[in-house]
Amino acid sequence: MKADVLLGLQWGDEGKGKIVDVLTPDYDVVARFQGGPNAGHTLEFDNQKYVLHTVPSGIFQGDKMNIIGNGVVIDPNILKSEITKLEGSGREIRSKLLVSRKAHIIVPTHRLLDAAYEIAKGASKIGSTLKGIGPTYTDKVSRNGLRVGDLFENFEEKYATIKNKHIQILKQHNYDYEAQLAEYEASWMEGVELIRSLQIVDSEYYINNAIQDEKRVLCEGAQGTMLDIDFGSYPFVTSSNTISAGACTGLGIAPSRIGEVYGIFKAYCTRVGSGPFPTELDDEVGDELRKKGNEFGSTTGRARRTGWIDLVALKYSVIINGVTQLIMMKSDVLDEFDTIKVGVSYVVNGKESKQLPFTFTDDVVPVFEELPGWKTDMTNVKSPAEFPEAFNKYVKFLEDYLEVPIKIVSVGPDRAQTIVLN
Ligand code: GDP
Ligand code: IMO
Ligand code: MG
Repeated sequence: MKADVLLGLQWGDEGKGKIVDVLTPDYDVVARFQGGPNAGHTLEFDNQKYVLHTVPSGIFQGDKMNIIGNGVVIDPNILKSEITKLEGSGREIRSKLLVSRKAHIIVPTHRLLDAAYEIAKGASKIGSTLKGIGPTYTDKVSRNGLRVGDLFENFEEKYATIKNKHIQILKQHNYDYEAQLAEYEASWMEGVELIRSLQIVDSEYYINNAIQDEKRVLCEGAQGTMLDIDFGSYPFVTSSNTISAGACTGLGIAPSRIGEVYGIFKAYCTRVGSGPFPTELDDEVGDELRKKGNEFGSTTGRARRTGWIDLVALKYSVIINGVTQLIMMKSDVLDEFDTIKVGVSYVVNGKESKQLPFTFTDDVVPVFEELPGWKTDMTNVKSPAEFPEAFNKYVKFLEDYLEVPIKIVSVGPDRAQTIVLN
């Protein structure tokens, strides 16, 4: 058996949480492989809405195992509130939640460093979620990080070392850290205590044994390909590999053991935070997309920027990830448009191209094709046979351009509003 991967193809918030939840009944294990509480994965069923930041999105489906992999960065305080909330809703989750001993820990001063670095960047700030993601991955790569396993061995000493290092940097930035640190540290320490009570495992062994035993493993990505540290719109990216290769390093799965790669995208496009967005709509059409799509961040509540679908960027994502099946989300948001635009190429410095430029600081002007809207309420559609003709044409146009079939279409936030295509 091979492990399958589900990941975002745009700038995040494509609807990964919803679809992982929908697919989980077909799997035995769901494993997050990168990112941390910068993620906000929303699930809706039985008229309830849940937002997960660290806990994998398979947690609501029976007794399937959920793993927080080595590639993830964990804020104990945030994990504590997630678990407390889930348990508060009457769910038993600890027996089906495993945490990698090698996952890195976000300490309170990582969050403060995130804020200090953003202030230092001024107008060119990334628009980070300020959850401490960048500084934590920086410490990981520079070999100064604190891992889950360290919570059990000389923790106080290791914590003091990393905290004091950070305080020196905060002082250099004249960052007023003391009150914020004191406020966060107390409940963060409670989170550390909570993590110590969870099932800590060598998840690379667990997952490889599961694959060997013919168990089905689904790897859950966070963020999206255009936020990948190597291939995204650098420097306006997150600090991890969000692409399919990230599942290999973030869980310890060999490339030869990856099976399907599900690439998920919105029928239009959004981005939250700063950075290039060629097909962005800074007008009333963009406002309409934001309103109909309820495009406000699941983690920070910030209004998301909106625009038409960008097939140049999407094609790039399909290639980099080796996508084998596409999943199109939020098509219902386009239900009322007379016409729908699709970005098919860019004009960069006067030359038309279907490649992403090295930086987007050059003038990038998108070229659009216009397709007729379907002008039909899709939210109650149950099968592909009910799709309006114009909707089928939209799907076909995307499939022809991307050269990968669309296998699932989502027509609303609820678990049930999901249509599998043949
Ligand atoms: P994720 O980070 O990729 O898991 O996505 P988010 O949860 O941050 O954002 C997706 C948002 O769209 C959530 O509020 C979902 O409830 C919602 N959503 C998911 N699928 C659909 C859909 O097909 N239609 C509509 N209207 N909303 C959807
Ligand atoms: P999910 O998993 C959308 C964006 C931030 C910012 C940049 C860097 O819910 O799709 P960071 O906090 O990582 O330093 O922020 O990345 N970003 C996301 N945008 N969805 C996410 O996660 C994101 N996680 C980070 O807005 O522009
Ligand atoms: Mg999200």
